[in-house]
Amino acid sequence: MRYILHMELLIEQVKAIIDKDLPLISNLSNASAVLNQLDNINWCGFYIKQGDELYLGPFQGDVACTRIPLSKGVCGAAAREGKTLIVPNVNEFPGHIACSSLSKSEIVTPIIKDNEVKGVIDIDAPIFNRFDENDQKLLEEIAKILSPLF
Ligand code: SME
Repeated sequence: MRYILHMELLIEQVKAIIDKDLPLISNLSNASAVLNQLDNINWCGFYIKQGDELYLGPFQGDVACTRIPLSKGVCGAAAREGKTLIVPNVNEFPGHIACSSLSKSEIVTPIIKDNEVKGVIDIDAPIFNRFDENDQKLLEEIAKILSPLF
C-alpha cells in the first residue's frame, strides 16, 4: 500500500534509518525503500559514480540498466552538470535511456560531496509531468543528508 507522505516525514525517515557505521550499500538500500513510499512512481534508486560512468546501486522497481556513461541519459546529464534535472516527458529528452517502457517522467538529483558528484538519486514515474519543485527540494535535501556517507 502506498501513502502520500508529507515530505518532511520522508526526510525524517531517511535521517532515522541512516547509520554511519554501516556500509554505504545498506544505508542506500533503506533510503531507496523510504523513497519508494512516494506516490505515482515505478522506480527509485541510486546510481553511483565511478570514473566516467554510473553503476547501478540499491533500488526499488524493475530490473534496470547497470552502467550509464556520463555522456548518456538523464542520470548522466544530471551527474555531469551537478544539478537536478526534471524531465516531464522522457520521450522528449535526447539520449534518454529507456530501462522500462513504463517510465514517462523522471527526476534525477546528484549527490555531491567535497564539490564532486558521487552518485545520483533517480526516480521514474509511470505518468507524464509527475515531478515538480517540491520533489526537487525533497531529493536535494535527501542528497545532502546522504552525501557524508560517500
Ligand atoms: N532513464 C534513466 C536510466 C535509468 S532508469 O530510469 C532506472 C536515464 O535516462 O538516465
